[in-house]
Amino acid sequence: MIILGIETTAHTFGAAVLKDRTVLSNVWDSYSHPERGMIPAEVAAHHVAVCDVVIRQALEKAEKKSKDVGLVAFSQGPGIGNCLRVGATAARAFAVHHKIPIIGVNHCIAHLEIGRLIAKECTDPVLLYASGANTQVIAYDCGKYRVFGETLDMGVGNFLDQVGRLMGLGFPAGPKIEEHARLGKKYIPLPYVVKGMDVSFGGMYTKIMHMLKEEHDEELVNSLCYSMQETIFAMLVEVSERALAHVGKKELLLGGGVACNKRLQEMCAIMCKERGARSFALPNQFNVDNAAMIAHLGKIMYDAGVRMTIPETAIRPYERTDDVDVVWR
Ligand code: ATP
Ligand code: FE2
Repeated sequence: MIILGIETTAHTFGAAVLKDRTVLSNVWDSYSHPERGMIPAEVAAHHVAVCDVVIRQALEKAEKKSKDVGLVAFSQGPGIGNCLRVGATAARAFAVHHKIPIIGVNHCIAHLEIGRLIAKECTDPVLLYASGANTQVIAYDCGKYRVFGETLDMGVGNFLDQVGRLMGLGFPAGPKIEEHARLGKKYIPLPYVVKGMDVSFGGMYTKIMHMLKEEHDEELVNSLCYSMQETIFAMLVEVSERALAHVGKKELLLGGGVACNKRLQEMCAIMCKERGARSFALPNQFNVDNAAMIAHLGKIMYDAGVRMTIPETAIRPYERTDDVDVVWR
């Protein structure tokens, strides 16, 4: 079966074409702004403007015609309402026009399922899902993907982007911070906040904001980027390790845009090696928001018997990972 996936939870409009479990194409167009983050209506307008081109590109790259598609899957939630609505509308129009089934999927679970597809040896992982809006440690237990720990305030990527804005690094700032961190020479102690299985970044943001108000030179920026990465990634590794121990699993999977960071990948690999577990990092195109993961989850839900009527495809901006019954495992 040919599956078309559509992703629009936030800044990215993505489209992908899969043939069963093979990714034929995975393309996207992301909104970005040099000075500020996302204004929902503006991002949604971007998605409307690019949707037909991106879907066409995905089909062309896969060498398929729209009539070849047998199932359309889209991200139903969680995410920014304005953005989700564009993807859902495009998916409904496509499904109704071609008289094919449509399935809305949970974006966070899609991050985990694409890992199980791409990293073949990764079968039952704890997922460290570190993206812009989300920071969660997730694992399967008793019919659901359960959240074992999460951020108490902002997502780790949004934290990096906000600090990056204070530093004038542009949006998204995560990749720039990674570059500056490599040049950092001095470790500056920053608030390390782990509460039980949860993490918090607000205190660190405030401290960095005050430091940058007093002094703002290249050397301080580099050292802060380095220290910030070391501190926040240590927090994430700590809760991931505790989740592995708690659920007795032996695989850690990294997902979300921040999982592109080589230092985070390295720290996770060291922790896993020390406790006899394995750490899996995916190619970047499957870490960031992508439609291949949406198409794949749609297909496995479809194979498990899930069907949706058009009214059931209403968006779910606040859907939580553990709201979803995992009927396919
Ligand atoms: P979600 O809807 O899943 O929360 P998202 O909309 O935030 O996702 P993603 O593409 O998953 O989108 O992640 C984007 C985030 O990843 C941004 O905050 C960006 O700064 C961060 N990021 C990207 N590359 C890196 C990197 N190399 N190091 C650190 N952070 C990175
Ligand atoms: Fe995402």
